[in-house]
Amino acid sequence: MRVDIVSVFPEYFAPLDLSLIGKARSSGVLSINVHDLRDWTHDVHRTVDDTPYGGGPGMVMRPGPWGDALDQLGGTLIVPSPAGVPFTQKMAHSLAAEAHLTFACGRYEGIDQRVVEEFGGLEVSLGDYVLFGGEVAVLVMLEAITRLLPGVLGNADSLADESHAHGLLEAPMYTKPFEWRGHTVPDVLVSGHHGKIARWRRDQSLLRTAARRPDLLAALDPATLDKRDIALLREAGLPVPGEGVAEW
Ligand SMILES: C[S@@+](CC[C@H](N)C(=O)[O-])C[C@H]1O[C@@H](n2cnc3c(N)ncnc32)[C@H](O)[C@@H]1O
Repeated sequence: MRVDIVSVFPEYFAPLDLSLIGKARSSGVLSINVHDLRDWTHDVHRTVDDTPYGGGPGMVMRPGPWGDALDQLGGTLIVPSPAGVPFTQKMAHSLAAEAHLTFACGRYEGIDQRVVEEFGGLEVSLGDYVLFGGEVAVLVMLEAITRLLPGVLGNADSLADESHAHGLLEAPMYTKPFEWRGHTVPDVLVSGHHGKIARWRRDQSLLRTAARRPDLLAALDPATLDKRDIALLREAGLPVPGEGVAEW
């Protein structure tokens, strides 16, 4: 996969040399090029912003330098924005299938909207809060996308049951020692009984999702629930996806 990132703070991307992303870059699975937007300015002050039409506080990024940068780089354009559609694991999967992604990092009040329109960009939000700039959002998206590329994770099985893989949060995990500060590990995990362990993890996954993310539980496809799942939710007094709430 080829990735281009355009920003007025290219230094933000030093972490992309580290860990598994760094390894994927040196092995050739991933090529990441970070560019300074000011390289596409033509005035002596290398200006990238101007006052907003219609008035209001702050500055808006001028379309000219962005247009020249994106003409040269190409790729599927992703524009981080708090006004974008939410970034999800599902979106990470579909972006991981692209051959060439280009990220445009906004600053100030964001980028002139005509840039997104001209290049058919997808505006993507990390969540319902506002950051100073798009750089951190791009680092987050790249972590989520690149770990899905074949050959990047040491053990691809890690992807199978993790949180958000099937609309549920992952069950809690434990490692040695068995007892730590008086807390022990749930007995079932040392039983050696694979069926019981899988069932316990599934139960924990459902209960955790119900407690922390009822929106995810409600959105589950009822066809993915087995009899034991439904019994567990009923016993816990939790709503069962697909079963309507009685109307009064
Ligand atoms: C201060 S914000 C601009 C906010 C913009 N005026 C608005 O209210 O929608 C500057 C830049 O930070 C990035 N940014 C801020 N919050 C974000 C979020 N939740 N998700 C993705 N990017 C974000 C975007 O690149 C944005 O252009």
